[in-house]
Amino acid sequence: MSTIDRMNLSGKVAIVTGGGGDIGFAIATQLYNLGAVVVLADLKDSVASAAARLKGGKGKADWLKMDVSSSASVDDGVAETVKRHGRLDVMVAAAGIAYDQKTLDHSDDNWHRVMGVNLDGAFFCVRAAGRQMEKTGGGSIIAISSICAVTTSGPEKHIGYDVSKAGVAHMCRNVAVEWADKNIRVNAVGPGYTNTVLLNEVGMTNPSMLKEWIDDIPVHRLMEPREIADVVAFLASDAASGITGHELMVDGGYSAS
Ligand SMILES: NC(=O)c1ccc[n+]([C@@H]2O[C@H](COP(=O)([O-])OP(=O)(O)OC[C@H]3O[C@@H](n4cnc5c(N)ncnc54)[C@H](O)[C@@H]3O)[C@@H](O)[C@H]2O)c1
Repeated sequence: MSTIDRMNLSGKVAIVTGGGGDIGFAIATQLYNLGAVVVLADLKDSVASAAARLKGGKGKADWLKMDVSSSASVDDGVAETVKRHGRLDVMVAAAGIAYDQKTLDHSDDNWHRVMGVNLDGAFFCVRAAGRQMEKTGGGSIIAISSICAVTTSGPEKHIGYDVSKAGVAHMCRNVAVEWADKNIRVNAVGPGYTNTVLLNEVGMTNPSMLKEWIDDIPVHRLMEPREIADVVAFLASDAASGITGHELMVDGGYSAS
């Protein structure tokens, strides 16, 4: 069987949290293109129209509203997915928020908000997916971390974000080992600066900030959402059957420099 054949996701059911956002939608698109039933899960109403854009291809798209910071909402979303589509093979935890605030000025509110969505949210998704996948003999879980999990970035600052993403990456390593004998693979993907609306929250609209980022990225450009999506789709598939507990950076060399 060729590598391309092993990347076929026909017959698999996937949830992508943050599926109404830029990276999440790109991921959902690639899973759909590879034949999966993809459930886009997001807090915002526009997730419905995002799912509606996926048509005429190999897979099937569905959507549901989910607040990843609530374990009940995540558990309900997984249960609803299984009710509608029969199983869960792939969970992608891509929902996330960011901000720009120096550490001495860091508010309690931002700390709790970012931990609630980025870290608690990823944990609730990993746990709910693992409970379901254990029943059906395995699956692949991918959580989106960040270069901020492994390097100090800047000039913008967001220590809560960085800690939340380091937590996500370490959770994946840890749970991957715990669940290896259940045939559940757990990996993190760490995007570098990626051309999405989230970067507006940390300063992309400021030309000098953008220039500083580009100067610091070895390939001298932002990543595109589809470049993150290609890697997630690979990890979701059987072509990555030997990979678990890994954090794969998609950052144009930023974390290596
Ligand atoms: N853009 C970058 O440069 C970059 C870099 C590294 C990591 N990331 C990570 O990639 C992921 C996707 O970010 P993006 O750049 O596509 O941003 P985005 O803002 O386009 O997408 C984020 C999505 O998450 C959703 N979301 C937020 N809170 C939620 C909640 N409580 N429950 C459910 N959904 C919620 C939003 O509605 C949005 O659709 C995030 O985890 C982010 O931290 C982004």
